[in-house]
Parts: sequence; structure tokens; C-alpha cells
Amino acid sequence: MLSAMKQKGEKITVLTAYDYSMARILDSAGIDVIIVGDSASGVMAGYENSLPVTLDEMIGYASSVARGAKRALVVADMPFGSYQGNSRQALDSAVRIMKETGAAAVKAEGGREIAESVTRILNAGIPVMGHLGLTPQSIHKFGTYAVRAQDEAEAEKLLEDAHLLEELGCFGIVLEKIPAALGAKAAQELKIPIIGIGAGRHVDGQVLVLHDMLGLNPDFSPRFLRRYLNLSEEITGAVKQYIRDVQTCDFPNDNEQY
Ligand code: KIV
Repeated sequence: MLSAMKQKGEKITVLTAYDYSMARILDSAGIDVIIVGDSASGVMAGYENSLPVTLDEMIGYASSVARGAKRALVVADMPFGSYQGNSRQALDSAVRIMKETGAAAVKAEGGREIAESVTRILNAGIPVMGHLGLTPQSIHKFGTYAVRAQDEAEAEKLLEDAHLLEELGCFGIVLEKIPAALGAKAAQELKIPIIGIGAGRHVDGQVLVLHDMLGLNPDFSPRFLRRYLNLSEEITGAVKQYIRDVQTCDFPNDNEQY
């Protein structure tokens, strides 16, 4: 379905979600793909980065999302430590995700380094989405969340990795925080869809972290983020109003009681 969209030049719409209620809303709004990202580590669990979230936690988030999404493709992130050890471990983790969540695919970060694991997971009949560019699970290797692949060597490696993931059989690749020209080149060279987050507009689709685009995380404002709501402010206003209403005995009124 996604590669057909690419062939027809239809942009693919992707958002993250981590729970049933949000997944239902995104699904009925018409989103094509929901990624249960390991960004859950920060936005759901409050950890500083995406490293601490566990496979068990990701399975909990992904199964909630899968119950809420009747139409959209649900892709579950493989968390840090669940696939880097060896390909057997990677397969076991991917099998758990598929058996216990109802997601239709998994996503893993990296190129050549994880090729053996990707192959083994694909050989088990599990669709895999790649993730290159800024790969937050490697934050301690990079030391920064700055734009990736700005120099020629890294850009070349990224394209090589993208081609490799395509050859192995991945059905799509997320490219995060890279120069727009490189995103465009990858989308042009590859047959599988390239989904960008901070990779410019000339890719095959876009993904944003739901909490960021809804304005639930006001402290996070990278250049690539478009904020569609300021939900943090709206919720604060609603909660303050509720507190006032309860304190002044305005709530509940005659119509709100039995
Ligand atoms: O963890 C995440 O939310 C992601 C998305 C940016 C795709 O990987």
C-alpha cells in the first residue's frame, strides 16, 4: 500500500501514538501509518532520552495503539537493547512484538550494523521499517541531537545504508534530521517510501511525534516541527477552570447530579 502511494506520488502521512484513545482519533482522522515510537520513553514515561524504555513497556504501548487503530498501519519501534545484541535476540524481540501487540511491522535504527538482524526478522515474515540519520538510540555515540549527514562521508554512508535496507527487504525508511537535499536524493534513488522527520519536503511522507505537533511539549521546538495546537496551554486552562469550578461549588450543578 505504501509503495503504491509512492508510485502514484501520494504523500504518506505518519504520526506517532502510544495509547488507545489517541490511536482511535488518528485512525478515524485518516492517518496512513501510526508509529509507536520509542519517543514514548520521553513523552510518556518522562525519561531523558529514548534509551530507558523497555521491550515490555513498548509492547504495552503498541498493543494499546493496535486496539485503537482499525485502518492505519501500526509500526512498533524496537527499543534500545532489544535487537543490538545479536540477530537471535533481535528476532526474539520482534516476534514478541508481533505476538503480543497486534502491530503489523517493527522499526529498528541503523544500517549495515544491524543488517543480519534485519534479515533474520524479515525471514520470519515480519515487515521491517528502517530508521537512519539522527538515530536517537545512539545519542551517546553522537553526543548531540544536531542535524546529521551534513558532510559528504556521512551522507554517502546514509545512502549506502538506505540502499542496503531496501535490498534486504525493508518496506520503508524513516530519515530523521538530515539536509533536505539528501532526503530528496534518497527518495529519488530508492523505490521504497522514505518518511521524513526534519528531512525536507521532497520525501515520500512525513512523520511527527504526536505530543510535539499537538503542543504538549512546549520546551521542544526544533526547526522541523510545525505545532498544530497548543494543547499544553489548553489543558492548563481547562484544569484551572475545573479547579475554580469545584472550589466555588459551581461544579457539579443541578443538571450534573442525580
Ligand atoms: O521514536 C519515534 O517517535 C520515532 C519517530 C520519529 C518516527 O522514531
